[in-house]
This record gives sequence, C-alpha cells and structure tokens, in this order.
Amino acid sequence: MVERTLGIVKPDGIRRGLIGEVLRRIEGAGLKIVALKMRQLTAGEAEGFYYVHKEKPFFKDLVNFMTSGPVVLFVLEGENAIERYRQLMGATDPKKAEKGTIRGDLAESIQCNTVHGSDGPETAKFEISYFFSQTEIITR
Ligand code: CMP
Repeated sequence: MVERTLGIVKPDGIRRGLIGEVLRRIEGAGLKIVALKMRQLTAGEAEGFYYVHKEKPFFKDLVNFMTSGPVVLFVLEGENAIERYRQLMGATDPKKAEKGTIRGDLAESIQCNTVHGSDGPETAKFEISYFFSQTEIITR
C-alpha cells in the first residue's frame, strides 16, 4: 500500500550540517519527498507535536531541544513508506541502532537522535496534517 509519513531533521542534525546526508539516504532508499520546509518551532508547536509524551520525564528537555534551532520537516511517500523510513532511521537510541541506519551512523544520543519519523498510520496522518496543508504536498 502506498503510504505517506512525516519526517524531521532535528536541530542536532542541522547544526552538524546533515540535511543533505539525511535526504540523500532517503532518496537513495527510493522514498519520494513530496513536501519539504525548514521551520523554527515554537514551544507550543513542539509540545503539541509530542503531546503523546507529555507525561514522560524527558518531555521538557525534548521540547527545549526541538526548539533549540531550526528543523527540516518533510513528507515521504512510497509503498510501505512508514516502515521503510523507520528501518532507514534505526532505533530511537543510537546505541541500539544498527550500523548503516541514519541514527546508528549519525545520531549523538537518545535525545539528539538526528531524525524523527511517524511510528504508524494514525500517527502519520496526525503528524503530516500538523505541519502541512494539503496544498503543500505534491501529488504526481
Ligand atoms: P522521536 O522518535 O522523535 O520521539 C520522541 C523523542 O523523544 C525521541 O525521538 C527522542 O528525541 C526523545 N527522547 C529523549 N529521551 C528519550 C527516551 N528515554 N526514550 C524515548 N525518546 C526519548
């Protein structure tokens, strides 16, 4: 099934000049980028995006981190895109992520883990519509 998923290059990835490297890996894996923009998130936007984690002990630090610099937001499209992009990213904790994955090769820590990706169809729907209007997504 052709799916769409929401991805983010996080502030640590941008600080280290990894936008191109992340997008190269995504395109190399055959996933289509159908929307793309750079934004500085407000605290309110980051809190709303990560609301499912609001009770977690790392929530405040996560919001501070996600607003510490700009992020690159994108929508990917492809057959089984949600799971394929998750495989490409690797585990949340870079210590557990396999070599060859984005986090395994590039991420600094469980918080500064370089990229985000939706974890399932419902989340993808919410996350895409959180940051992109329909007219910002290319259909071809
Ligand atoms: P992400 O996949 O974007 O989803 C939640 C984010 O919280 C995660 O990546 C990390 O950036 C951050 N985070 C910080 N500490 C933890 C933790 N202990 N477990 C999971 N996520 C964490």
